[in-house]
Amino acid sequence: MRLLVTGGAGFIGSNFIHYALAHTDHHVTVLDKLTYAGNLESLMGLPSDRFNFVQGDIVDAALVDELVGVADAVVHYAAESHNDNSLRDPRPFLDTNIVGTYTLIEAARRHGNRFHHISTDEVYGDLELDDPARFTESTPYNPSSPYSSTKAGSDLLVRAWVRSFDLQATISNCSNNYGPYQHVEKFIPRQITNVIDGIRPKLYGEGKNVRDWIHADDHSSAVLTILEKGLIGETYLIGADGEKNNKDVVELILTEMGQQPDAYDHVVDRPGHDLRYAIDSTKLRTELDWAPQYQDFEAGLGATIQWYRDNQSWWRPQKAATEAKYKEQGQ
Ligand code: NAD
Ligand code: DAU
Repeated sequence: MRLLVTGGAGFIGSNFIHYALAHTDHHVTVLDKLTYAGNLESLMGLPSDRFNFVQGDIVDAALVDELVGVADAVVHYAAESHNDNSLRDPRPFLDTNIVGTYTLIEAARRHGNRFHHISTDEVYGDLELDDPARFTESTPYNPSSPYSSTKAGSDLLVRAWVRSFDLQATISNCSNNYGPYQHVEKFIPRQITNVIDGIRPKLYGEGKNVRDWIHADDHSSAVLTILEKGLIGETYLIGADGEKNNKDVVELILTEMGQQPDAYDHVVDRPGHDLRYAIDSTKLRTELDWAPQYQDFEAGLGATIQWYRDNQSWWRPQKAATEAKYKEQGQ
């Protein structure tokens, strides 16, 4: 297949491209605007006969139409992705996540393409810490932040285009990813690179908030499975049973990096901070026969720490500006 992958220079998109080129014979064209979150270095060394890159904006209808027209399937990762940024300046989230998704699905319906929409568990809002429940495909939408509400809006557009226009689409909602190529604004890379730089890790509030961690490669294998076997119009939740609270994750990072586990600072909490996310991925596992490969979070985290140690030229250009932004917020 000829895949058009939007947002392929970002964290999960770039991991998907490395994974897809290694595990399939698909050809990949990336469409990416190269915002602050996009990095061409993440796509170095890919086979030039099976991969090409186009810099552009997913709200550019003419460009999108041209690229969708020559693809068999679209895998849509491009988004403004960071909750903290959405609290400072929501507008780009509306443009990219809502109008960008609209632009892509209009092109996909015109050309009759297979379309896979990448989304997040955050569309379901949050769960109480002591609630045994997990999110399923039928959990009602209840997003909390400008980021998650625009992702929820984009999911609803895709669902409406399936029903009204027969768009050949599937949707996946995944939990928190970790792995290489993640921007240093995000929790795990921020703390790893802080420790490398001799800065104490920063924990929002008390650190009791729970995230359900999955390795980016497991997200990629799930997306390929859905592309291959998913039923049109269906939503699949992707998760690897990786619930951990933030305090435990920071302490693990510090221990793995040879520091005292309490060598971190508590900083100002995120406004509206979701308490807990938890995914029940039974549908994907039973109906499409998918299973995650990374069962050991400590081992995956250890490999991720090593990647940031070995690839300082990849993240260092972003580090000072990212920390300066956090400092303004007392974080
Ligand atoms: P990211 O911020 O690392 O990357 C986003 C990419 O999209 C960047 O390369 C950026 O340049 C590009 N982009 C942004 N606006 C664009 C536009 N208007 N036109 C073209 N390209 C544009 O994000 P990520 O963490 O890799 O997330 C990718 C997708 O996965 C998003 O849709 C996100 O909602 C979803 N998701 C992320 C996670 C996670 O843990 N990071 C979990 C579940 C779902
Ligand atoms: O659940 C999927 C979502 O995971 C994706 O949709 C988002 O794109 C992705 O950014 C991520 O959202 P989170 O807000 O959960 O991730 P973040 O890395 O920003 O924060 C993870 C947790 O760590 C969250 O509870 C906030 C906390 N945190 C974050 C930072 C940056 C800290 O305690 N300290 C920090 O410095």
